[in-house]
Amino acid sequence: MKTDGQIEEIKSRIDIHALISEYVDLKRSGSNFKGLCPFHSEKTPSFMVSPSKQIFHCFGCNKGGDIFSFIMNYENMTFPEALSHLADKAGVKLEESRHSDTDRGLKDSLYAINDEAMRFYIKNLTAARQAVTYLKERDIKDETVSMFSLGYARGERDELMRHLRAVGYSDAMMKSAGLVHYGSEGAHDFFRERLIFPIFDLRGKVVAFGGRTLSSSKNVPKYLNSSESPVFKKSDTCYALNLARNTITQKGYAVIVEGYFDAIVCHQFGFTNTIAPLGTALTPGHLRKLKKLTNKVLLTFDADSAGIAAARRSVELVYAEGMISKIVLLSEGDDPDTYLRKHGADNFRKIIGKAISPVEFFLSRAGKSKIEGLRQFLSIISNCPDTLLRDEAIRELSDLASEKVLRDELAVITRKNAGRARDHGQPGTQDAVPEAPVEISREEDILLNISLSNPRLARRIAESIDMSSLESPLSKKIFTNILSLPPDTEPTQERMLADCSPEERSAVNRSAIEPGIDLERIAQNINECLKKIRLNAVAERIAEAKSSGDENSLRALLLEKKKLMQKRVELFSQKDSK
Ligand code: UTP
Ligand code: MN
Repeated sequence: MKTDGQIEEIKSRIDIHALISEYVDLKRSGSNFKGLCPFHSEKTPSFMVSPSKQIFHCFGCNKGGDIFSFIMNYENMTFPEALSHLADKAGVKLEESRHSDTDRGLKDSLYAINDEAMRFYIKNLTAARQAVTYLKERDIKDETVSMFSLGYARGERDELMRHLRAVGYSDAMMKSAGLVHYGSEGAHDFFRERLIFPIFDLRGKVVAFGGRTLSSSKNVPKYLNSSESPVFKKSDTCYALNLARNTITQKGYAVIVEGYFDAIVCHQFGFTNTIAPLGTALTPGHLRKLKKLTNKVLLTFDADSAGIAAARRSVELVYAEGMISKIVLLSEGDDPDTYLRKHGADNFRKIIGKAISPVEFFLSRAGKSKIEGLRQFLSIISNCPDTLLRDEAIRELSDLASEKVLRDELAVITRKNAGRARDHGQPGTQDAVPEAPVEISREEDILLNISLSNPRLARRIAESIDMSSLESPLSKKIFTNILSLPPDTEPTQERMLADCSPEERSAVNRSAIEPGIDLERIAQNINECLKKIRLNAVAERIAEAKSSGDENSLRALLLEKKKLMQKRVELFSQKDSK
């Protein structure tokens, strides 16, 4: 092939370790380098790069190859695209003929027209007194302006269109790039009287623009984004990622802010690992992009109600991607932009240092009802695919709130809700909790899960339980259902849940999908739960006896408790679970 020599030339000029280091944090490991694989999610590095062989390989997902395969995989490029990208980087001029215009096609034309438009906007800015003043007022330095290639679109109807035509672009291409808009009064420039923020992909190509209005008219949106195109998908493009990439891998985390100006000002103040979604809330697409660089993100939000709601949703998404987040809530009315300009970088660094974990966030935001925060949090981490992460969150949770506190809170809320229900003659949960919660203790929940996912064990478990010790009406109902089935009828899920409401079903279902217990130790688990349930019941009776001063039963109960504690309760024998 004609380009073989060029491929070798490119390979000889680009060191694979240097190349991959731009994307992955690599640590030396013998004669190789090691890092977290960018192609699958992992917690311990199994991605190896060999400088001597100039190859990479992941022992986790088995992806491997040379610099070309890395770029094709990572940047989602075809071979010709990767070739031209790496040739650019290596300073090797490719012989033309190999891939024609149709090969490189639409995407390259879009990059080119966007690039032309960006230059046009940049040139406009210097002459636009209003825009320059605006940037000065917002304390944006000249170097920041050029670092972010900020520009300006004047208020004219179609000057960009005329310019692009003059340099040879077709109207169709302008339309595809979202640079012109066909309205009721014909075609006009899409961005008018706006400060322009070019949006770059990781390779530094302009894929789209954002524009903030400088017009005093209230009838225009504050920000606009280019429409989507073959080179721009809004929901997975992160603003400033091209500039933040290296610092993100160095620092090991990304700072996520809400707006363009927030991102720019963070960079200006030295927080160069900052990115922002564009004109949308954070999406799984953004997180997947970031996950190639780091699995840690710092979320910043305004402490108003909209900010809190956004923080909740974001934490949820971060967990769902198996990533780790910390949260900074700025005082109401501040965003990182205004905060930094008022209080400076040192203070911002301090509040970043004090960022709270999702657990703390949910518990602190829950207001009076800690249990509600807890419930929300538990439901969120139940979506996290990473068991270790989930365990960590649970551990943190139990450090913050002892089981006793949690149970007490739970009792208070249950009483309150019951009281309200009486007062209003209807289920009393409208303002506190969106839907009536179905409470089940952890032990009862585990036994329910085991029973529902192992119908063979269900009857034995039900028979081993002391029904009067069960706290939750739901578990009582389900275990009673099981016991009331004729001996030769298998307790299928449907039969066990026969008379359960949709809420009750969903309460047991979620954990049934992910039992969260070690199936190897199922019998032991069952026994621990049975024992705990009995102990709880005894503890309750002890409390009753204490408060009524009934010393005889107290003595008997304490003895019963002691026996229960000492005995390795084998209510359920190992062979039953086989
Ligand atoms: P904000 O309205 O919170 O403003 O929008 P901001 O970023 O603080 O803007 P400044 O400081 O007044 O300039 C946050 C982000 O939401 C998107 C933009 O990405 C913006 O940066 N947005 C906002 C839109 O896409 N359209 C809008 O009309 C408003
Ligand atoms: Mn702002």
